[in-house]
Amino acid sequence: MIVLGIETSCDETSAAVVKLNSIKRCEILSNVVHSQISEHTDYGGVVPEIAARSHIQYIDKVIQRAMNEADCDFNNLDSIAVTSGPGLKGGLLVGVTIAKAISSVTKKPLLGINHLEGHALTIRMVQKVEFPYLLLLVTGGHTQILIVRNVGEYTRLGTTIDDALGEAYDKVAKSLNLGYPGGPIVESMATNKTDYNFKFPRPLINSQELNFSFSGLKTAVRREIEKSIPISKETACNICAEFQDSIIDVLKDKLEGAISCFRDEFKNIDLNVVIAGGVAANKKIFSSIKELSEEKEFKVFVAPKELCSDNAAMIAWAGIERSNAGILETNDVSVRTRWPLDLEGQKVRGAGIKA
Ligand code: KG4
Ligand code: ZN
Repeated sequence: MIVLGIETSCDETSAAVVKLNSIKRCEILSNVVHSQISEHTDYGGVVPEIAARSHIQYIDKVIQRAMNEADCDFNNLDSIAVTSGPGLKGGLLVGVTIAKAISSVTKKPLLGINHLEGHALTIRMVQKVEFPYLLLLVTGGHTQILIVRNVGEYTRLGTTIDDALGEAYDKVAKSLNLGYPGGPIVESMATNKTDYNFKFPRPLINSQELNFSFSGLKTAVRREIEKSIPISKETACNICAEFQDSIIDVLKDKLEGAISCFRDEFKNIDLNVVIAGGVAANKKIFSSIKELSEEKEFKVFVAPKELCSDNAAMIAWAGIERSNAGILETNDVSVRTRWPLDLEGQKVRGAGIKA
């Protein structure tokens, strides 16, 4: 099975050709990502209008390059999988429109893929992780803990009630004038910490619920910055370190709660925890959860960095997983800016599209 994946939901224009070979292994034949980072840097975040225009400018070339690198002809494809939500409307429309055009000319089926499902299943492209597993999904737009029961079957245990984790990193970086995207810069600044005598809150820690909140933490960071102006490089590094330590304490606390839920339900199943999404590239977060895994006896998985951030291979792969699971789609794919993975999940006040 050979699938062309197309991803345009945020600030990466991406196309990939992914194959499920005869021994049911995944082969990524190409995975072309055109990043728009330089176009958004001056604004400290993604500007939807600029993103949509850039997707239009590059999408055809990116698809052609992905097909060339994979040495693949459109007629060799079994289907086309496109991100149809959630995400920025302008970008989604570009991807879905070109995918529909390719589908109608080639007469190949079109699969509308949930971007979050792409992140949720990515690990299975590169490692043998069976269902069910626990997923910590941390991106620029979402922060959730879910039970992944099967393809298309998700139970959300917790979500953010305000900012997403990647968004919080980006905003902290913006307050410190460090550039965009903030995650990698804040992580690297934090490694240069020295002694400091301030402490940021650990929002919602030790509360029964498994939801997250990062906006109070962001405000605490801003206050500390205001107190320290003009801010030295050393103070900036310490603020980044304390911010990240707060994040890690919260993530570990919520994960422990989720682990109890998982073990209550799946008494005889070994626990696997998968960290996915752009923030999963953070080495300090991974090593802290790895430490927890030794203490609590579970296995932790994370995909290689280039598959953690937005890319079309994960969208093609989700298409392959859905086809294999017999989840049939119609060609009538529409754009959904809000599209929760857990459709039965309770509404969470404040979460909005982040649920
Ligand atoms: O999944 P992703 O590529 O796009 C969305 O679907 O949102 O995630 C992008 C987010 C950005 O907010 C970026 O700052 C964050 O992932 N990120 C990181 C790191 N690398 C990327 N956050 C923390 N540490 C990192 N090393
Ligand atoms: Zn993403």
